[in-house]
Amino acid sequence: MQGLRETFRRDQVWPFLAGEQNKVDVSNQMILYVEGLNLSFDGFKALNDLNLYVKDGELRCLIGANGAGKTTLMDVITGKTQCDSGTVYFGQTHNLLTKDEADIAQLGIGRKFQKPTVFEEQTVFDNLELSLKTDKRVIQTLFARLSPSEIDRIDEVLAIIGLKELRFMKAGALSHGQKQWLEIGMLLVSDPRLLLIDEPVAGMTAQETERTAELLTSLAGERTVIVVEHDMEFVRSIARTVTVLHQGSVLAEGTMDQIQNNKDVIEVYLGEEAAEA
Ligand SMILES: Nc1ncnc2c1ncn2[C@@H]1O[C@H](COP(=O)(O)OP(=O)(O)OP(=O)(O)O)[C@@H](O)[C@H]1O
Ligand SMILES: [Mg+2]
Repeated sequence: MQGLRETFRRDQVWPFLAGEQNKVDVSNQMILYVEGLNLSFDGFKALNDLNLYVKDGELRCLIGANGAGKTTLMDVITGKTQCDSGTVYFGQTHNLLTKDEADIAQLGIGRKFQKPTVFEEQTVFDNLELSLKTDKRVIQTLFARLSPSEIDRIDEVLAIIGLKELRFMKAGALSHGQKQWLEIGMLLVSDPRLLLIDEPVAGMTAQETERTAELLTSLAGERTVIVVEHDMEFVRSIARTVTVLHQGSVLAEGTMDQIQNNKDVIEVYLGEEAAEA
């Protein structure tokens, strides 16, 4: 009985929300394994034998021209879209292709879409509280009062996203950049292991972009972060390893310098950007 009680308590106490069954086995350092992924839309190959391995704690940038398959890849990882063939593992044991979106979120994978979807009429604090309460790993009802540890968690997240001073402001009154940070905060309250972030700095001011770079850099290490971006200056400022997608496959992978000097990448992607600049 002792073991049962321990398990029960563990499930309720922050930060061990996930419980034993949701543990991610990263014993060989990788947190994400994507292999041989294929997906066609009416004969058009959006993902074409795609392979991607991401190390635990990495901050990985994913770049590639419009239509390269970046968002589609995130859709498959998070269970939003089913692929035709291939495998996706979270750690060594969780086969994500057998799980639905809610189960995948519960395992500790957070996704941020490009457009912020905060509750504009609610305060910054309330937005964070709402995402904490809709986290199915927390056993409580929507109307239950916040526990001291939950309030601490929200405070912690407010500090991380730099919105502590604006906690009582309505989210609708925030700048575009601040809304993006709030939405990242709404993922962070659930303490995800892996964050997938699609085009976070589009539409941001230069200063907001810089702060976002700092934010994402600070999140990596303890968490794994995969960022899709077109803004090359931003990618250069945060990237350690960059993966270039082209027509649904990985075209190149390496440091920003290696990528910028890669002939294939220059031809199909950076050439265009350089020509536009
Ligand atoms: N549900 C869908 N039905 C049909 N085609 C789709 C669907 N989703 C994506 N596609 C197509 O798959 C390809 C890859 O799209 P995806 O959105 O993944 O590209 P992306 O790399 O994210 O591009 P961008 O940089 O413009 O966001 C595109 O040609 C797109 O039109
Ligand atoms: Mg996209």
